[in-house]
Amino acid sequence: MASTPLAAIVLAAGKGTRMRSNLHKVLHPIAGKPMIMHLLDTVDALAPSKKILVVGDRAEQLRSAIDDVEFALQTEQFGTGHAVQMALPALNGFSGDLLVLYGDVPFVPLSVMEAMQAARESASLVVLGFEASVPGAYGRLITDEDGSLARIVEFKDANETERAVTLCNSGMMLIAGDKAATWLEALDNNNAAGEYYLTDLVEIARDDGATSTVVTAAEHDVMGVNSRIDLAAAEAAFQALARINAMESGVTLMAPETVFFSHDTVIGRDVTIEPSVVFGPGVTVADGVTIKAFTHLEGATIHEDASVGPYARLRPGADIGAGSKIGNFVEIKKAKLDRGVKVSHLTYIGDATVGAEANIGAGTITCNYDGFLKYQTNIGAGAFIGSNSALVAPVNIGAGVIVGAGSVITKDVPSDALAVSRAKQRDIKGYAAKFRSEKAAEKAEKNNTSDKKEG
Ligand code: UD1
Ligand code: MG
Repeated sequence: MASTPLAAIVLAAGKGTRMRSNLHKVLHPIAGKPMIMHLLDTVDALAPSKKILVVGDRAEQLRSAIDDVEFALQTEQFGTGHAVQMALPALNGFSGDLLVLYGDVPFVPLSVMEAMQAARESASLVVLGFEASVPGAYGRLITDEDGSLARIVEFKDANETERAVTLCNSGMMLIAGDKAATWLEALDNNNAAGEYYLTDLVEIARDDGATSTVVTAAEHDVMGVNSRIDLAAAEAAFQALARINAMESGVTLMAPETVFFSHDTVIGRDVTIEPSVVFGPGVTVADGVTIKAFTHLEGATIHEDASVGPYARLRPGADIGAGSKIGNFVEIKKAKLDRGVKVSHLTYIGDATVGAEANIGAGTITCNYDGFLKYQTNIGAGAFIGSNSALVAPVNIGAGVIVGAGSVITKDVPSDALAVSRAKQRDIKGYAAKFRSEKAAEKAEKNNTSDKKEG
C-alpha cells in the first residue's frame, strides 16, 4: 500500500516494576528473541522512514541491545503523552504520520498496523481499540452515535457509565503528521493521575475540527506484558501459533504442547517431532527428518531424512548429513557429519568432521579441549570407531580406518589401517575361581570373629 511516510515511535521508558528484574522488561525474550524485537520486526515490514524508541529507565541496556533505531530520552515518566513529546526533537523536519506503539505489546500483527494506515484516509487520528474480556483499568473509548471516536477516558477519571464501556484503548495510535506536534504540545496534566495523557489527543483533535476513529483488534493481538505471568502467557501464545504453523506446513507433532520452537526455527515437510523437543535459536531441519523425544537443539542444521534422538543434544555448528542417525545421549557441537553417519549412543563429537557412512561406536569422545584451546578431529568416510575410544585432537583418522574399542588415539591414522592402542590382554588360568574361594573363606572367618565378640 502506498501510504504517507511513517515514523514509528515505540514507548519503553516505563520501569516495568512488576517484572522484578534487572533486565529491562522489553528485553525479556519470547521464543528466544527480546520481546521488543518481535514488535520492531513487524514495524520494519511497514518500511517506516524513522524508528524512535523512547527510553528512560535502564536506557543503557536498550541502547546496547538494539541497533537501527533512534533513541529519545524521557528522564522522568510523566505519562504517555509526555513520552511521545520526547520523540519530537528527533522528528524535526519530518512531516509523515506518527505510529505510536508500546515496547511491551510485542505481537501487534502487521495487518492491524496496515488497517490503521487504511483508516487514516478518513480520519486524522486512528486509535487501536479492542473489546476487553476484563476491561479493568484500561482507558475506555467513548464513541458518538455515528461511531466516530469522541474521547478516551482513563479509568481513574471515568464515571460509572463510562466504566461500563467494554471497548478499551490498546494505547496504540496513528497521528496525522501535519498536526501531531501542535496537538502534542497542547496536552496538559489536569487529571486524576497528574500525567500527560496521550489519550487526550482525541479531544484536542476534535477541538481542532479533526476526526478520530477506532480500528479494533482482537484482544490477544494487543496483549501487553507487565509481569512474568504475562510473559509466560505471551510465550504460550507464540508457541501455540508456531505449532499450528508447523503442522499446517507438513510437520507431525505427536504432542504439540510439549514442543518449543525458537522465533527462527525452519522446518521442512514430512518431519516428525516426538514429544518434549526444545529448539533454541538457529535450527534448520530439512524434509523427512525425525526428531525423537527429549532432544535439545540449538544452532544446528539437519539434512534430509536424518534421525536425531531420543535424548540427543545438538549444539551450535552441528551439521547432520542426509540420512545420518544420531542416537541417545549423544552431544554434537561444531561438527560437520556427512551423509549416512551413525553416532548411535553415548558420544561427544565436538570440533570435528565426519565422512560419509562412518560409524562412531558407543562412548566415543573427541577430546577437543586441553583446558586452554580447542582442537580439530577429522574422521574419514567409512571409518569405524570402536566403542569407548578417545580421539585426542588434533587428530586425523583416515577413510576406512578401524579403531579398536577402548583405544586412545593420539596420532593420525592412515586410510584403511587398524588402530589399536590398549594394553595386551593376558589370561591367568583358574585365577578367578581361586580368588573367589579365598575371598569367601576370608569373609566367613571375619563373620565368625564378629559373632563371637557380639555373643
Ligand atoms: C495506557 C493508556 C490507556 C490504555 C493502556 C493500555 C494513557 C494515558 N493511557 O495506560 O488508555 O488502556 O495504556 O495498556 O495513555 N510509558 C512511557 N513513559 C511514560 C509512561 C508510559 O514510556 O511516562 C510507556 C510504558 O513503558 C508502556 C506504555 O507507555 O510501554 C504504557 O504505559 P502505562 O503506564 O502502562 O500506561 P497505562 O497507564 O496503563
Ligand atoms: Mg499499563
